[in-house]
Amino acid sequence: MSRLMILGAGGHGKVVAEIAKLMEKWDEIVFLDDNEKLREVNGIKVIGQFNDYRIYKDRYNYAFVAIGDNELRLKLIENLKKEGLLIPALIHPFTSISDNCQIHEGTAVMAGAVINTNVIIGRGCIINTSSSIDHDGVLEDGVHISPGVHLGGTVKIGKHTWVCLGSNIINNVIIGSNVIVAAGAVVTENVPDNVMVAGIPAKIKKRLGVIDSD
Ligand SMILES: CC(C)(COP(=O)(O)OP(=O)(O)OC[C@H]1O[C@@H](n2cnc3c(N)ncnc32)[C@H](O)[C@@H]1OP(=O)(O)O)[C@@H](O)C(=O)NCCC(=O)NCCS
Repeated sequence: MSRLMILGAGGHGKVVAEIAKLMEKWDEIVFLDDNEKLREVNGIKVIGQFNDYRIYKDRYNYAFVAIGDNELRLKLIENLKKEGLLIPALIHPFTSISDNCQIHEGTAVMAGAVINTNVIIGRGCIINTSSSIDHDGVLEDGVHISPGVHLGGTVKIGKHTWVCLGSNIINNVIIGSNVIVAAGAVVTENVPDNVMVAGIPAKIKKRLGVIDSD
């Protein structure tokens, strides 16, 4: 039997659970969430809190982290792997993904996403609704591509970076780690690590705290 625990029963978790159901790979799907009041969400039982994965790991052989915080998501994935849990990539059936792509464990690809040839997507990424990643793109671990974002060809994006709603990144641009690209931005030049950029063309608006990824 294949059974899946989804860590996070909020808005993102609900979307992820629907993808998991559509994939028809798991005999049972449950949530874990730190909101103790939750018992059931959209017909899926909430059986415990995040850290209870240790209690349930013998029954549920798969686990998926469905939380928006890019850094925390990756840390939890590491913890789950240490417990021997299998971490799938969850891919909505209504997507267009080249056979020549790599999509690593713990990544969710939402409805309407288009991922073109020779793209590499790291661990624990979110490729959100109706976004597109063109040929030869490289996304490091823990990147979030929000709904309606479009990346031109050969764009590179560093670890933990969040590309917000509806922004566009032109071809060949390199974006650093721990960057926020604000909603609606058009990024035309490379972006260094640890900054927030916004506007058309996107400019640095502020410096961000460095994330200690260890
Ligand atoms: C980027 C964002 C997260 C705000 O970040 P923040 O750190 O709170 O930014 P601040 O409010 O401190 O703004 C800093 C500056 O950037 C500007 N700014 C923020 N967002 C902007 C945007 N989308 N476009 C243009 N300028 C923007 C602010 O006006 C401010 O400018 P100022 O210094 O000249 O006054 C938010 O604006 C955003 O884009 N949210 C979208 C979230 C999203 O995509 N959600 C989907 C999840 S699935």
